[in-house]
Formats: sequence, structure tokens, C-alpha cells
Amino acid sequence: MDVIKVLVILLSVSLVEILGHNHQPKDQDAKNNWWQHEVFYQIYPRSFQDSNGDGIGDLQGITSRLQYFKDTGITAVWLSPIYESPMVDFGYDISNYTNIQPEYGTLEDFDVLIAKANELGIKVILDFVPNHSSNQHPWFLKSVAREPGYEDFYVWQNGSLLENGTRVPPNNWLSVFSGSAWEWNDERQQFYLRQFTFGQPDLNYRNPAVIQAMDDVMLFWLNKGIAGFRIDAVIYIYEDALLRDEPLSGTTDDPNVESYLNHIYTRNQPEDYLLLQHWRQLLDNYTASQGGPRRIMMTEGYATVAQLMEYYEDANGVQGPEFPFNFDFITEVNENSTAADFVFYIERWLIYMPHGHVANWVMGNHDNPRVASRFGVKSVDAMNMLLMTLPGIAITYNGEELGMTDYRNISWEDTVDQPACEAGRDSYQTISRDPERTPMQWSDELNAGFSTSNHTWLPVNPNYKDLNLRNQQQARQSHYKVYQSLLKLRQLPVLKNGSFIPDVVNSRVFAFKRELKGEHTLLTLLNVKNRTEQVDLTDFIDQPNRLSVLVVGVDSHHRVGDRLKAESIELAPFEGLVIQLNKRK
Ligand code: NOJ
Repeated sequence: MDVIKVLVILLSVSLVEILGHNHQPKDQDAKNNWWQHEVFYQIYPRSFQDSNGDGIGDLQGITSRLQYFKDTGITAVWLSPIYESPMVDFGYDISNYTNIQPEYGTLEDFDVLIAKANELGIKVILDFVPNHSSNQHPWFLKSVAREPGYEDFYVWQNGSLLENGTRVPPNNWLSVFSGSAWEWNDERQQFYLRQFTFGQPDLNYRNPAVIQAMDDVMLFWLNKGIAGFRIDAVIYIYEDALLRDEPLSGTTDDPNVESYLNHIYTRNQPEDYLLLQHWRQLLDNYTASQGGPRRIMMTEGYATVAQLMEYYEDANGVQGPEFPFNFDFITEVNENSTAADFVFYIERWLIYMPHGHVANWVMGNHDNPRVASRFGVKSVDAMNMLLMTLPGIAITYNGEELGMTDYRNISWEDTVDQPACEAGRDSYQTISRDPERTPMQWSDELNAGFSTSNHTWLPVNPNYKDLNLRNQQQARQSHYKVYQSLLKLRQLPVLKNGSFIPDVVNSRVFAFKRELKGEHTLLTLLNVKNRTEQVDLTDFIDQPNRLSVLVVGVDSHHRVGDRLKAESIELAPFEGLVIQLNKRK
């Protein structure tokens, strides 16, 4: 019996050795896995840094700020579109996929940006907008003119003509922004599909030439040295081939708003998944043939959790993007949410996520109100603690490290966001995305240090005199310093690989532990409501007298290094704490 045991042990040891030897070298692991615990910082180029005084952010501006990322601890950025565009949707309407918008610079400027980013160890991800081009793109102009080879580059349909001369679109599909998704084109005498603004005609992916053209675009930018793509609006790429009407949702009577229909024929179609799997192959082949870090994809799409999970991998295990953006902190929770709501949505993602994949948490972006405006200015540090101590990838929108707020009082005259302009003077404010896109607040100088121009493309939020990076760098305590210390903390193995154990302490407070063998356990504690709490965590942690504070918010009464007792921890309104549970000697 013992002999057999020994043999089994020996065999398993040698198996471990064999597997160990076959295992890829560490360096290769790092190249494959670099993205798995990354903080991806979204730059909105138009608002980040203007280098030539025209009031518009640009590539040289970004390059001049790369050291800022290094100093902050950020090693990967993703850029909203920088390509040639008439700017109807501020770059999400592309008229040349392989050139830079002149206001932003040149391809040479882009090369310099990449070279400098490489020197500093910062990876660059570009936005890729496949669903639609601009209506000024030569492909569209040729398609309108029915030039051979381009007739079917877009989704064209006749619709019908009523006796009274009214043109009726081919079906009831609606634009995301408002009204019919079909736009009449006089020259071609047909409707084209546009799920966003009139200036963004949907490309026709049932035409193989379109797929080839977009593959070429990807390769063009990969050859420029980028680390991957954020892929825009993936859930809209294909539509039902039979163009069937969508059923009414029954949630609103307004036939012009997106929610009027249940979008079963225009969103998350099976072919969307297949196309992403095709791009997965393209990126993997590229990495395999060119070496270097794994080239990655992160996808944008607001969908149900089940639909999103299939982007990670489908039912047959075929792999898609590294991760579909998890927007739950934007769409599912807000200032009215309870502690249980937060834990519920965090757990939901982790439970639904297929094995072997990596979670991600998006705290903000250029399409939604900022954190300080969604959860309140007092919640900024707590939300960053949450973001940075959860397992997986964190995504920060530029300015959130400072707790920038929306500038909601932008006048109608200064409003530039197309859907807001279309909504009209009376209702633009509820729709406009301009408030979260105002220029980055670097300092208390002219235009917050963003630009030397007399006029910036969007007004700078007047609160920049107080709320700016320089102030926060100089202050003893600031949102920026909290953010910086969280990024440092993320290097700990327990935050990279530790397990996740949550606890709803009461309806206002929740906590979670990150545990890893041989490492100190970390505890994140959050009060999501506007009242002081006294909590007892003795049931949740087994070292009740060995708690020391690692990170505190700007208004906290606690100090880093303070010892706490689990039986009674005081939390101010909206306070967050990151605490270390010291191991028994
Ligand atoms: C998602 C982008 O984030 C948004 O800004 C844009 O308007 C739509 N896609 C259309 O491209």
C-alpha cells in the first residue's frame, strides 16, 4: 500500500516537473497576461491636452502628458477615436480609418506618441469603430453613386412610397439617439441604415469586402505598434437579414425613443459574436507572427449579462475579446443603491463569467455622467477604492482620478454633442454628453492648463480653480493621492490573485476580503449612504484585533497606519477604507 502511495506521489511530483518544464517561460507569461490586472485609463483626446493653442486637444498634447501616467502608476491607456472625421459624433464618424484627424496631428505625431509611450512602458489601445463610418467616407460616397465594388458596402433599402408621396422606411427600427434608423438618400433614391446619427451609416458586414477592408484597418494600426483595440458598438454590427420589425417593448408610448422597441433584431445578433471571434484570430495570428505582448480587444456594448458573457466565449468555448466592458457600476447602481445592490451586481458578473476569464469594472466614460455626479462628490475616493481592489481589470475615465464633476450648465449655444443638438433647446440638457467631456483640469492657469486658446471646444468647468491636478498634487490629502496610492497597492499579489469574499454588513455598508495564501488579507469597507455608521465585523474576519488602515479618503477621520478593532469601526458618510488584516505571528 505504502509503495503505491509513494509511487503516486513520485508520479505526481514528476508530472508537476514535466508540466513545469513544458510551461512557457516567465517572460512569455508576462507577455501573454500583461492585461489581466491592468488599469486602462481612457483618454478623450479632444479634451485631454491642447499643444497648439487651437482650443482642441491633440496627439502632441497627449505625448507631452505621458510622464503623468508614469508618475501616477498607469501603464495602459485607451484613446477615443483620433481618425479623420467630420466630427458629427466627435470622431465616432470616421471618414478615413487610416489617417489622423488634422486637428489632432499627423501619423508622424502618432509614431512619436507610440515611441515615447514604449520608452515609458505604457501600452496604447486604440478605439476601433466598425459598425459605421462617416457619411463623408469615400466608401459611402462611392456607395451612394453605386460605384462598382461599393454598391453593397452599406445597408441600403427601398422602403415604400405612399400615395400621398410620403416615403416609408423599410421597417420600424429606431436609431439609438432618436427617430427612425433609416435615412433617405436622394441621390441613390434609397434609405440607408444608421443606428446612430444621420452622419454614421452602418457598414454592411454581409459583404465580405467590408470585412476585408476592416481587417486591413486593424493591421494598419497593429503595425504602428499598438497593443490592441477598444471596439465600439459591437452589439449593433449585424441586423436581422430579413429586416423584420421589432416588437414593441410596452415600456413607453413615445415611438421615437430607443426604448420603444424590444431590440431583438438589431442587437447582439449571432453574427456579431462570430465577427469578434474572427478578429480574435486576427489578433492572435498577429501576436504569434510578430511576437511582443498579446494584442487584446475590449468591447463596448450595453447588453444583458448573459449576452455579454458570450462575448468572452461562446457556448462551444470559442474565444472572443479578452473582455466585454462591464458597465454595471454605470447602469445598475447609483446613489440610491443599497450595499446589497452593489454586492449583488459585483457577484453577478463573477458568477456569470465563464471559467478562466478575467473580470473588469468600468467606473466611467465619455458617454455617461461622471462618478462624482452619479454617486455624489463625497463618494469619489470610496468608488476608486472599490474599483481598484476588486479582482481583475479597472477602467478609469480621464479626470476621475481627480474627482472631476460634470459641467451641467453648458449653455445651448455652447452645446456640441449631436444627439443633444437634435433634441433641441428645451431638452438638450438631459441628453447631452458634453458635461462629462469638458477639458481635463490640470492646474488653476488659463483654461485649467488645457489650452492657451481664447476659446476651447467645450467650456472648461469653472470649478477648475480649486479642482485641478496641481492643487491635488500639492495638497497633503487629495483624490489624486488616494488614486495614486491605490494603484501602488494593486501591485500586491493579494490584489492580483487573491480570492474575493464579500459581506453585506447592513443596507448601507458592505465589505469584501481579498485573500491569498502567505499574504496579508486585504479588506475593503464602504459606506454607500449619507450617515455615519458604526460597524462590527467580528463575524466576518478572524483576526479582530489586527487591523491596520492602508488607504483612507480625503475627509476621513482615520489615518493610514491606524489600528482598528473589528468590533467597532466608524465610517463617515460615503466613506471607504482599505484595511490590512495582519497575520498572526
Ligand atoms: C459608443 C461611443 O462610446 C459613443 O460615444 C458613440 O456615440 C457611439 N458608440 C456611436 O459610435
